Amino acid sequence: MQTLFPARAELSQETGEKKRMDKKTFYITTPIYYPSDNLHIGHTYCTVATDAIARYKRLRGYDVMFLTGTDEHGQKIEEKAKAAGVTPQQFVDKIVTGERGVQDLWKLMNISNDRFIRTTDDYHVASIQRIFKKMHEKGDIYKGAYKGKYCTPCESFWTESQLKDGKCPDCGREVHDAEEEAYFFRLSKYAKPVQELLETGTFLEPASRVNEMINNFIKPGLEDLCVSRTSFTWGVPVDFDPGHVVYVWVDALFNYCTALGFLNDRYDDYDRYWPADVHIVGKEIVRFHSIIWPAMLMSMELPLPKKVYGHGWLNFNGDKMSKSKGNVVDPYILADKFGVDALRFFLLRTFPFGSDGNFTNELLISTINTDLANDLGNLVSRTTAMVEKYFGGKLIPERESDPLDEELIAMIRSAGERYAAQMEKFQLHQGLDEAFRLIQRANKYIDETMPWKLAKEEDKKPRLATVMYNLLEALRVSLTLLTPFIPESCGKAFDQIGADEAARTWDAACAYGVLPAEVSVRKGETLFPRIDAEKMLAELEEAEKAAKGPQVKVEPVLPDVDIEDFAKCDMRVCKVLKCEAVKKSKKLLRFELDDGSGTVRQILSGIREFYEPEQLIGKTVVAILNLPPRKMMGLESCGMLLSAVREADGKEELHLLMLDDSVPAGSRLC
Ligand code: ME8
Repeated sequence: MQTLFPARAELSQETGEKKRMDKKTFYITTPIYYPSDNLHIGHTYCTVATDAIARYKRLRGYDVMFLTGTDEHGQKIEEKAKAAGVTPQQFVDKIVTGERGVQDLWKLMNISNDRFIRTTDDYHVASIQRIFKKMHEKGDIYKGAYKGKYCTPCESFWTESQLKDGKCPDCGREVHDAEEEAYFFRLSKYAKPVQELLETGTFLEPASRVNEMINNFIKPGLEDLCVSRTSFTWGVPVDFDPGHVVYVWVDALFNYCTALGFLNDRYDDYDRYWPADVHIVGKEIVRFHSIIWPAMLMSMELPLPKKVYGHGWLNFNGDKMSKSKGNVVDPYILADKFGVDALRFFLLRTFPFGSDGNFTNELLISTINTDLANDLGNLVSRTTAMVEKYFGGKLIPERESDPLDEELIAMIRSAGERYAAQMEKFQLHQGLDEAFRLIQRANKYIDETMPWKLAKEEDKKPRLATVMYNLLEALRVSLTLLTPFIPESCGKAFDQIGADEAARTWDAACAYGVLPAEVSVRKGETLFPRIDAEKMLAELEEAEKAAKGPQVKVEPVLPDVDIEDFAKCDMRVCKVLKCEAVKKSKKLLRFELDDGSGTVRQILSGIREFYEPEQLIGKTVVAILNLPPRKMMGLESCGMLLSAVREADGKEELHLLMLDDSVPAGSRLC
């Protein structure tokens, strides 16, 4: 029989059926991602943060619904699919469900979402049509004509006054004049109640974003919002007016309700989870979530979400990461090099959640080395190694305490409460600070108690057992607080320190004396090995280079020529009759060609480093014939063979232009 400490006995009584029945719900969402390109570390940041909050809430005993998904309609997707030569559905399928796509990435990053919505899912499309119709029947959606400035990448119409230096205020790119027959949502009607909602101070956080919304968008006057498009087709069709598709943001925002079964019978938990407790969103989409979204919900007479939290951007070299700026960081590479937990941890430990942060590989490495390898990793490995070394892995039940223990024990008891206060405010990095304060205090306790000295005296065994027990308890609580951030590593460390399921709960995290008196400990693998920064930076550079593919230098297009000038070039299909290397030349090959004229044409070409002569005999090539003859190495060259040339990674690549053998010699290129 193991001795249970009193705190543990109380805990076991508390976990009963009744407690499960009384569970409060917590509905949390990420934005649904736009699958126009593969996701980058900025998107990962947003999802990992939401995941940590969802895991924290589950730890606190909530019945959590965590939703994420993809926002798959809109002009940009339609255009990209066209350029790629596939249907829009095929295009998004590849990025969402394909290899190393969105769903793979969330699996890799250990994201614990309960549901994943795709706005192309049938049930969602049907719900959106019903929602649109309802707002139309109510008179909140009406038909008009839209004239405005449109930003294609952002799918946003802007008024002249909203533009920044004549460009899109969100992404800074060019906008263009656009006009189309369209439906409008009476956003202006809801300006007052939305402003009042924002002024409650609890709906939108951080507080700084409230002033931005009121001053930049509401005070200048909220105009009605254009909510349908006729210029493209990739969207939810307005079923009562063919030719119109629903504006992608209306389609996207209502995902938070349709994914619970609102106006569809795919799911049945709308009543259980709506209204959402919090929508986590990036700062550039706060406007949609804190103005347009509540206004549409008011129109639908639905309860409003309790909170919208606008987090900052992860920047790279001071600029927001985006594919078009070419500064994206690939989460697959980082997870592969550093491990999923280390990456998750870095994202949430380093940047205050509401503010912007600048991503660098150096910062990533130093955070892992300082916090995970040094502070946490050392505490786990030193403690477990000492329990193994001094007690053969199992502590003795005798204890001998000392006033030196009090501060650590007080911290073990109180860290959870301080951590929770931060987590409830979504101050994730501050929550982590609390866990690390306890870890650092425990490391200091090792230096103060000097277990290696106690181990030398047999009569100090009870004291040594107390020191070890206190360290294990400090670790147990720290690990519980870290679990939402680095779940897999915490699971492994819990196993090492002998913490069973009951010892990993929230109630246990707020108590001292939870591990059994004779707890069994076993030292395991090193959780976070120290990273050699120089070596790792070089490896990352290599990996990023390989992922990008060869760096091709694309020559600028030359000035225009008249068609008459072009027509003067006589380019013909020729068959290679003979090909051999020119003696004493490193570069030249000598060709005898059938150009269709009945006589043999000789051309010299400087392509020896790219082809073996025998390879080319019998091939169908293209030559320009009417260049003046040139002498090279004493031989006359009557024309020039055409090749495709490019510079990749600083090296020239050459491909002789070859046609299919069915094209007869003498055919002209025009
Ligand atoms: O906005 N740093 O989708 P999205 C931090 N489909 N967060 C970043 C980031 C960065 N560098 N880059 C992007 C959309 N994000 C819409 C949402 S919701 C009904 C519809 C965040 O794929 C961005 O701020 O462009 C946003 O919150 C999320 O990734 C999705 O961006």
